Amino acid sequence: MSSQPQSLDPLSRPPVPSAAQSAREEELVARVLGSFANAPDPRLKLIMESLVRHTHAFLREVRLSEAEWRAAIEFLTDAGHITDDRRQEFVLLSDVLGASMQTITINNEAYENATEATVLGPFFVEGAPLVQLGGDISFGASGEPCWVEGSVTATDGRPLGGARLEVWEADDQGFYDVQRDAERLSARAHLFTDGDGEFRFWALTPTPYPIPHDGPVGRLLAATGRSPLRASHLHFKVSSPGYRELTTHIFVRGDELLGSDAVFGVRESLIKTFERRPGDAPTPDGRELGGRGWSRVRFEIVLAPAAAS
Ligand code: BEZ
Ligand code: FE
Repeated sequence: MSSQPQSLDPLSRPPVPSAAQSAREEELVARVLGSFANAPDPRLKLIMESLVRHTHAFLREVRLSEAEWRAAIEFLTDAGHITDDRRQEFVLLSDVLGASMQTITINNEAYENATEATVLGPFFVEGAPLVQLGGDISFGASGEPCWVEGSVTATDGRPLGGARLEVWEADDQGFYDVQRDAERLSARAHLFTDGDGEFRFWALTPTPYPIPHDGPVGRLLAATGRSPLRASHLHFKVSSPGYRELTTHIFVRGDELLGSDAVFGVRESLIKTFERRPGDAPTPDGRELGGRGWSRVRFEIVLAPAAAS
C-alpha cells in the first residue's frame, strides 16, 4: 500500500489506491448502478447510470478530498443563490465548461452546407421590435455603425423569402440592454427576408465583452487563470417553416479573442470579414452618419430541412 502523503507530490498527482481499496470503491459503484435496475423509463435509466459511472470515475481519478467535496457543494449553493429569472448561473457554468457547446454540437449534426449553430447565451429576449429591411436595430445603443446584409437559403440554394431573423448584440461598452434596464430594448430587433431571401439592416460593429463574472462562475474562471471575455459577435436566430431553426453568431475576422472565447462558441465557418469604411465613404443606402467611420459584413445563411434534426 502507498504511504506517500498527498501534499508532498508537487504535481498534485493523487496516490494510487491499493487493490483492496479499489475493490471497495468498485463495489459501491456497482451498488449505486444497481439501484436504477427498476427505473421504468429506459432513457432516464441510461442517463442516470452513465452519470453515476462517470461521476464515480471522476471522484476516484482525482481522489477528491472531503474538503474539496464541501467546496464544490458551496460553489453549487452559491450558483443557486445568485440565480433568478434574469440570471442563470447554472447555464453559465455549463457554458464555460463547454457543456452547452457540446450539447449543441451533438444536436446539430453538420448537414450538407447548412450554417453551423452556436450558443444562445442568456441575453435573448422574446418580443424584440420589428425593423423594416434597411432599418437600424441599435435604438440608441452606443457603437460604430455596421451595415449587415446577406441571404437566407435552403441547402439547395433556393432563397427563403419571409424567413424571420432575430438579431441582438452588446453595445460598445460591453453591455446588453437587459443588463442596464429591462424595460428599454436596444441593439436587438427582428426582421424578415424579402422575396429573394435577402436581408439588410444597420447594427453596431461587434466588440468584445465579458460574460457575467461577478458570481461563482467568475470566481472559478479567475481561480483557473481564464478570461471571462467573449470574442466579438452578433447573435442571430433564424427560422422559416419547414426548416431547422438556427441559433448562431457571426464573429469578427482578426479579433484576437477568437481562440479563447470564454464559452467555446467560435466556429471557423462563422468568422466573417467586417470591412472598415472611413467616415467619408458613401453608405450602401445613402444614410448620413455625420462623418463617423462604419463597417459592413455579409452573411449567407443556409437552413437545413426540419426533417434533418
Ligand atoms: C452571450 O453571447 O451573450 C453569452 C453567451 C454565453 C454566456 C454568456 C453570454
Ligand atoms: Fe453575446
